[in-house]
Amino acid sequence: MDIVIVPTAADVATHAADVVADRIAEKPGTVLGVATGSSPVGIYRELALRRAEGSLDLAHLTCFALDEYVGLPPQHPRSYAAYLGREVVRPFGLAPEQVRVPDASRADLGGAAEEYERAIAAAGGIDLQILGIGTNGHIGFNEPISSLSSRTRVAALSAQTRADNARFFDRPDDVPTHCLTQGLGTILEARQVLLVAQGERKAAAVAAAVEGPVAARCPASVLQFHPRTTLVLDEAAASGLTIGDGHSPVPDQGDGRGPDGSAPAS
Ligand code: GLP
Repeated sequence: MDIVIVPTAADVATHAADVVADRIAEKPGTVLGVATGSSPVGIYRELALRRAEGSLDLAHLTCFALDEYVGLPPQHPRSYAAYLGREVVRPFGLAPEQVRVPDASRADLGGAAEEYERAIAAAGGIDLQILGIGTNGHIGFNEPISSLSSRTRVAALSAQTRADNARFFDRPDDVPTHCLTQGLGTILEARQVLLVAQGERKAAAVAAAVEGPVAARCPASVLQFHPRTTLVLDEAAASGLTIGDGHSPVPDQGDGRGPDGSAPAS
C-alpha cells in the first residue's frame, strides 16, 4: 500500500483528484469505480472544477457505483443513484448511461447482482476504484465478517453503519437495512484502488486496515493483498498509524545490515 498523508481534507481532495486525472490522461475511456458517502465528494468537485476550467476531459468515462440501498427507488434523494446524479453525472457532463448503479429496486436482487458483475466485466473491468472507509472498516457496504472473496450481493447493514448514515436521513429508522454491494473480491479485481479518509473518526479503521492483520473483522484490510492501492489521508485520519517515518518498529541491526539481515546497499 502507498500511504500519502496530507495536512487537511481539502488537500486529500486535491491529491486524490490528481491521481484520478493522471489515470484519465493515460486512458480517456477509464472505467472508474465511484464510491458514495461524504469522503469522495471533494474529489468529484475538484474533478468537475478542472473540467469546467477546460483542463480535464471526462467525457469518455464509464463509471460503476460500489453499492445501492435496497428499498430506495433511484429517484429518492438519499439513493446512491441520486447522489451520483448530483455529484458525478451532471457535474462531469456525462450521459446517465455512463454511470451504472446496482439495480436494488428489482424483485430479483440476486439476478441484479449477477447482472452488475457481468456489466463490469463487459466494460473491461474497473481501472480505478475510488473508496471511502466506514468507521468499522467497511468498504462498499462490505461489513465486518464479509467474505474476503465476496462478489456483488445483497448484504445487511450493521447497526454502526446505520447509525453513522442516519445523518443523511430524517429519522434513524429511515436508514435502509439492506443494500446491493460490490463484494470484496469484486473490489480486489480493480486495477488500481484509491482510498480516501478524512477526520479522526476514521483513524481506528484506517490503522486496522493498514497495520492490522488481514481479517474479516476489518474488511478494508483485504486491500493489503491488492498490488496497486493508494491511501490518501489527512493527518487526523492517519493519527492512529504507528509505522511510519521516524517510527520504525524494526530495531537497527547496528552493523549497517538491513532489518532482514541483508548486506548494506553499496
Ligand atoms: C457508506 C458507503 C461507503 C462509504 C462509507 C463511508 O455508507 N457505503 O462506500 O465509503 O460508508 O461513508 P462516509 O464517506 O460518509 O464517511
